[in-house]
Amino acid sequence: MIGGLSSLPGVSGQKTTIATCLSIFCLALSGVWSVGGLEVSTGKVSTLEAMNGSTVLLPCTYASCIGIKNLYFNWTKTEPWSCTSSSLCDAIIPMEGVEPKVDVFHERVEFVGSSKTNNISILLWNITFEDSGDYLCYARNPKEKNRNHSAIFTLIVLDQMREVDNTLTVIIVSVLGGVIGLVILIMVIKALVVRFLCKGDEKNKECLVSSGNDNTENGLSGAKGEKQGTPKA
Ligand SMILES: *[C@@H]1O[C@H](CO)[C@@H](O)[C@H](O)[C@H]1NC(C)=O
Ligand SMILES: *[C@@H]1O[C@H](CO)[C@@H](O)[C@H](O)[C@H]1NC(C)=O
Ligand SMILES: *[C@@H]1O[C@H](CO)[C@@H](O)[C@H](O)[C@H]1NC(C)=O
Ligand SMILES: *[C@@H]1O[C@H](CO)[C@@H](O)[C@H](O)[C@H]1NC(C)=O
Repeated sequence: MIGGLSSLPGVSGQKTTIATCLSIFCLALSGVWSVGGLEVSTGKVSTLEAMNGSTVLLPCTYASCIGIKNLYFNWTKTEPWSCTSSSLCDAIIPMEGVEPKVDVFHERVEFVGSSKTNNISILLWNITFEDSGDYLCYARNPKEKNRNHSAIFTLIVLDQMREVDNTLTVIIVSVLGGVIGLVILIMVIKALVVRFLCKGDEKNKECLVSSGNDNTENGLSGAKGEKQGTPKA
């Protein structure tokens, strides 16, 4: 069962201890989850937003404590609107480290995984909007009574960023333009209102100013008169 670990005869005691601990840990995990060890994962982030026309990696890895033999896996796409699913590719990995012969049923799918790294990822070339949806990575290890394991990866296809940016720019410019226009309008109205309200006051001011001028002129003329009057007297 734990073939990989028992094939370490010449290693130091420390390494053997670590290996034993790992195998106990593995067995404990298998016991707790009662899944026999195989795990399928599409990674921590299992959602991807990508541009139409780009090429995306749909990641998937498997891990098994008890090892694999004739591990069957496939990728299927679940159509979002109907409940149908279409097969993208499938294969059987005869044993650990032996590369599978993958049957691909989709013209833009390429298998890029490797059983050396427990990697069963695929590439999806030149994506279109119809490629949005859930992709199921499924694996079954006959060694563990054909239990089914799967993980879902969600792809969201976006329109080109440039158009999104343009829309944003248009929105920002319109909002800014609207705000500036409103401010100018308010200032014009305020100026007009102030002018109308002050028209009455302006007359008073003019009166005051003119009377002040008169006074000054009178004073000046008075002074002049005095100056003129002084030499005369
Ligand atoms: C992405 O979609 C837009 C809008 O449908 C289209 O104009 C553009 O050519 C597409 N880009 C690619 C690379 O296919
Ligand atoms: C993806 O698109 C490029 C450019 O249009 C083309 O050369 C290439 O063959 C396409 N690849 C697939 C797998 O369809
Ligand atoms: C799986 O293989 C692909 C292609 O070689 C690589 O890009 C990806 O990073 C690998 N994934 C993991 C989890 O190693
Ligand atoms: C796994 O899936 C297959 C087909 O989808 C089904 O026939 C089988 O009963 C399932 N096995 C378990 C253990 O659920």
